[in-house]
Amino acid sequence: MRYGHFDDQQREYVITRPNTPLPWINYLGCEAYFGIISNTAGGYSFYRDARLRRLTRYRYNNAPFDVGGRYLYIRDNDSGEFWSPSWQPTCTKLDKYECRHGMGYTTISSSYSKIEAQTTYFVPLGETLEIWKFSVTNRRNKPAKLSIFSSIEFCLWDAQDDATNFQRNFSTGQVEVNNGVIYHKTEYRERRNHFAYFACSEKLAGFDTQRDTFLGAYRSWDNPAAVERGKSFNSVAHGWAPHGSHHVKVNLKPGETKEIIFVLGYHENPVDKKFDPPDSQTINKQTVKPVIAKYLKGKNVVAAFQSLRENWDGLLSTYQVQSPDIHANRMVNIWNAYQCMATFNMSRSASFYESGIGRGLGFRDSNQDLLGFVHMVPSRARERILDLSATQLKSGGAFHQYQPLTKRGNNDIGSGFNDDPHWLILGVGAYIKETGDWGILDEPVQFENEPGSEQPLYEHLRRSFNYTLERIGPHGLPLIGRADWNDCLNLNCFSDTPGQSFQTTTNKDGKVAESVFIAGLFVMVGKELATIAKKRGLNKEAERCLAEVAKMEKVIYQHGWDGAWFVRAYDDFGKPIGSKVCKEGKIFIESQGMCIMAGIGLKDGKARRALASVNKHLATKHGIVLQQPAFSKYYIHLGEISSYPPGYKENAGIFCHNNPWIIISETMVGNGNRAFDYYTRINPSAREKIGDLHRCEPYVFAQMIAGKDAPTHGEAKNSWLTGTAAWTYFTATQWILGIRTEFDGLRVDPVIPAKWKGFTVTRRFRGNTYVIEVKNPKGKQRGVKKLLVNGKEIAGNVLPVLPPQSKPIHVEAVLEG
Ligand code: GLC
Ligand code: GLC
Repeated sequence: MRYGHFDDQQREYVITRPNTPLPWINYLGCEAYFGIISNTAGGYSFYRDARLRRLTRYRYNNAPFDVGGRYLYIRDNDSGEFWSPSWQPTCTKLDKYECRHGMGYTTISSSYSKIEAQTTYFVPLGETLEIWKFSVTNRRNKPAKLSIFSSIEFCLWDAQDDATNFQRNFSTGQVEVNNGVIYHKTEYRERRNHFAYFACSEKLAGFDTQRDTFLGAYRSWDNPAAVERGKSFNSVAHGWAPHGSHHVKVNLKPGETKEIIFVLGYHENPVDKKFDPPDSQTINKQTVKPVIAKYLKGKNVVAAFQSLRENWDGLLSTYQVQSPDIHANRMVNIWNAYQCMATFNMSRSASFYESGIGRGLGFRDSNQDLLGFVHMVPSRARERILDLSATQLKSGGAFHQYQPLTKRGNNDIGSGFNDDPHWLILGVGAYIKETGDWGILDEPVQFENEPGSEQPLYEHLRRSFNYTLERIGPHGLPLIGRADWNDCLNLNCFSDTPGQSFQTTTNKDGKVAESVFIAGLFVMVGKELATIAKKRGLNKEAERCLAEVAKMEKVIYQHGWDGAWFVRAYDDFGKPIGSKVCKEGKIFIESQGMCIMAGIGLKDGKARRALASVNKHLATKHGIVLQQPAFSKYYIHLGEISSYPPGYKENAGIFCHNNPWIIISETMVGNGNRAFDYYTRINPSAREKIGDLHRCEPYVFAQMIAGKDAPTHGEAKNSWLTGTAAWTYFTATQWILGIRTEFDGLRVDPVIPAKWKGFTVTRRFRGNTYVIEVKNPKGKQRGVKKLLVNGKEIAGNVLPVLPPQSKPIHVEAVLEG
């Protein structure tokens, strides 16, 4: 069954029935103020950090699901009947329903009993607030007397504490109601200088700020006492659960429309100007009033919405493709790029699956996220690189995660994931290739956020590389530490205690277990670092890198090749993992992808051999599983990977994040047909038609699709926040379509299905716009033989960097195989 359709023109996904298999969400905000919003207005908002600055409450894993949101109620004051125009929470059977998720906004429209309603939710650029632009129209042939109630539940800032520390929290809640604006100020009396506010453009008939008064005891969101009786209680919260609800009365003639604007926002006051008058406990509202007044005016809201749309037009226009495949087009042109903005901002913190409490920004994750983001806002990518590298340890190692609010490494999880530092080289490389900003390497950056420890960023890259050289195991391969990219391959953990963290428990000294994956990664980034060193005139350094890389390649051939594929790792007993000698987990995806991407086995056929093995043992119609055979029981020496039931997550699930590595590898051996086929298997748009099986949003990639060992093979989970976003975007744009950023220019090297007659990419790159027309008259999969730039043939297939031109540069590329 389909639950909606794409509107590519508007860059929207249109959901046409509210009861989707799971809440299908969107993100509001792309700078500092964020929210998640589902197709029935569920979700919550926060400022920068989903754990520490949560504005509103949401109940994760609730039954029914998706409870807590940006709710409105419409009450017919003649009949007493009431409903929610976003379906939830009353779940009244609506006569019409439509949700349009767009770029940074969501519009939910509905009609019930001839009353039409439409609400657009968005965050204006540059502001720390969200707008709900609501309009209601009377389609009856007689006047309608309506009451509109808004409803949000305030979170007491720290979402973790808010959900657990009730002995304190039931006594701390405080609000002010002033001039129709509800101010939430819990803990403002002491160490906080921030508050939230909830304003409405209309004169109020009443308000409520105490949840349990608004709802009434033992009632739920589908039947609040205030709404049922048609009158707010004007409650003022003291302790318990602060809440925000406005009540507006609207009388509409037949055909008449009324617009109401609600503004929910976050505001900080200077610490010495918190109160007004200064010796009082009353919030100083002078600084926030102008913002509120501005956005309660319809024309300012329209203008802000317009700039949001224009901003996205600009961001997306950096890379646009017209290919014969509609699913590739809409993912590349719209949704995948959009998802990359979400992963850049959220990392893995706040989604329907990520509670916003657990994790900060992953060092490895955030570096990889840059691959899909850097072309959109390079300046923010630069800032992220500098923030991340400032948390790097002096040893070259990395804190596994850092907190976005404090920009400090997270001590709870610590370090020791031995692949982590290498991703910094990859992220920085991608940034320089996009921008040509070599200067970033000279930026002084601290280690461990310690003042005085500044070294040029380049030195950070060196230490990342050296980190592995100082951690080599018995076979000459890199020691794995707590885990490598696969967080669940915990070879030094040996945990038999329930609840112990697989990621932070280490019961072995870590001197034996090795990772072939890290070896491949080391080779890949080592070559990158050598190129960077050479560019800086550090030839000796470049040679040293390449010598180490060559040495590692030799070790991989010797101990990392299993005959038909690459071995995955060696365990604490020195035995191989991901080898034909294993009973379970004979072949893994990650080492195949990483070693081939590093260039290993390209010349001697080993790469093709490994890819054939992947095709034979790991590929399914829903994507490529992580390993086979799945682990049927818990293996103490393997850790979390074997804790999952077969077919889920890292235990033989289709972990979409690493599928692109195989796709890139297929392009590297020139196999365009297979590369595109694999890409399509996990492409959510292509999976839209199996929505009941897939269940997640058809417009964004999911982290995981259940593998063939699971009873639910094909079911997706953990949509939105996954490295899949950046990697699939990078793969589709740079390796399949093959318009690839390099240090010296833009390479044109498509590897496409033979049946494609061609395609066109428009790419903004270092100040110029290239319109690249690729022609494939002979039905080839690869091989640009001729490249015309503004009609003139150039040698090779790299477009040189040119001074900014006034007109787009026209490029024609012909594939001849
Ligand atoms: C999750 C983590 C990522 C890790 C992957 C595989 O996506 O965020 O860091 O590489 O799982 O375990
Ligand atoms: C869990 C997840 C894995 C993630 C890890 C780190 O183990 O299964 O995907 O990377 O947590 O937080």
